[in-house]
Amino acid sequence: MSRILTGITSNNIPHLGNILGAVLPAIELSKQSDNESLFFIADLHSLISQKDASTRIESVNSVAATWLAFDFDTQKNLLYRQSRIPEVCELTWYLNCFTPYPMLANSHSFKDKSDRLSDVNSGLFTYPILMAADIILYDAEFVPVGKDQIQHLEITRDIATAFNNKYQQEIFVLPQVKIDENMMTIPGTDGQKMSKSYNNFINIFLPEKDLLKVVKTIVTDTTQLEEPKNPDTCNVFKLYKLLANDAQVAEMRGNYLKGGYGYGHAKTALYELILTKFEKPRIRYHDLMSHPDLLEKELQIGEAKARKMAQKKLKQVRNVLGF
Ligand code: ADP
Ligand code: TRP
Repeated sequence: MSRILTGITSNNIPHLGNILGAVLPAIELSKQSDNESLFFIADLHSLISQKDASTRIESVNSVAATWLAFDFDTQKNLLYRQSRIPEVCELTWYLNCFTPYPMLANSHSFKDKSDRLSDVNSGLFTYPILMAADIILYDAEFVPVGKDQIQHLEITRDIATAFNNKYQQEIFVLPQVKIDENMMTIPGTDGQKMSKSYNNFINIFLPEKDLLKVVKTIVTDTTQLEEPKNPDTCNVFKLYKLLANDAQVAEMRGNYLKGGYGYGHAKTALYELILTKFEKPRIRYHDLMSHPDLLEKELQIGEAKARKMAQKKLKQVRNVLGF
């Protein structure tokens, strides 16, 4: 049996990039018969940028509803809020004291974010240590994440190794990053990586009219309707290709190449595909969002189990540290 663990920061409603790049591959892994999955909502990480309580609660519910809308099986696996397991904060402090300062200072994610954000707080700097605690507190073996998170997993392994070496015991399992090679970076409406921070994301749970509006904002070039077009450089086609079956892709490719097919047509086709492809998750998501009591119940079940695992590991850690 393998233990799989991953988290999603609750900054917003999960977008198409999060769903295709993180949620669906993780759920696929969780379905493999002998795997046990721990999927959590990184609401402590969200505090780095999100200070408003009611927005946070809404985002937490939205991330939980997304996992459940895509049929994450909470009988077999665990779904929980990071903040409901206080042991993770205690472990974070211990790990802080085993993390060389330059390791954090050299993090790509920190350099990138600290250049762009106005609020460069210490939480942003020590974020990878909380992430390491999230993982090694539960003896996670495989961590499915996007490519942007690879360095954080390396940091996690380095910290865990430093700790194990210091006490000459295998206290922590060294986790392995799991990247879905087929799942490339999902482009946003402007062609850059789809991201909350670039405001170029597609929220598939939007009401139909608003969803269509967002799809219509996808940036295209100025090739006229009647002219042939290059599908491979087009942002609409790139997104369509990620969701469509082979026949649909071939048909749209043909339409682009022969001309007389405008970007407006392609955008409508993409919009309709999103609606059909995500019909069930859209219904289930809104149903759950209007029943927060159901979400709360599901989360608390996962949290009770996660807490037990966390307490057991922390006892071991306190013991070797002499606390
Ligand atoms: P954002 O960039 O919108 O802030 P996060 O950093 O919260 O997204 O990402 C949550 C998860 O979704 C991570 O595992 C990340 O790698 C994945 N992810 C985010 N955006 C994309 C994307 N455009 N393509 C593929 N995976 C993505
Ligand atoms: N840093 C991850 C992200 O932004 C979220 C996260 C927090 C995470 N803790 C984790 C992912 C532990 C995997 C494992 O996407």
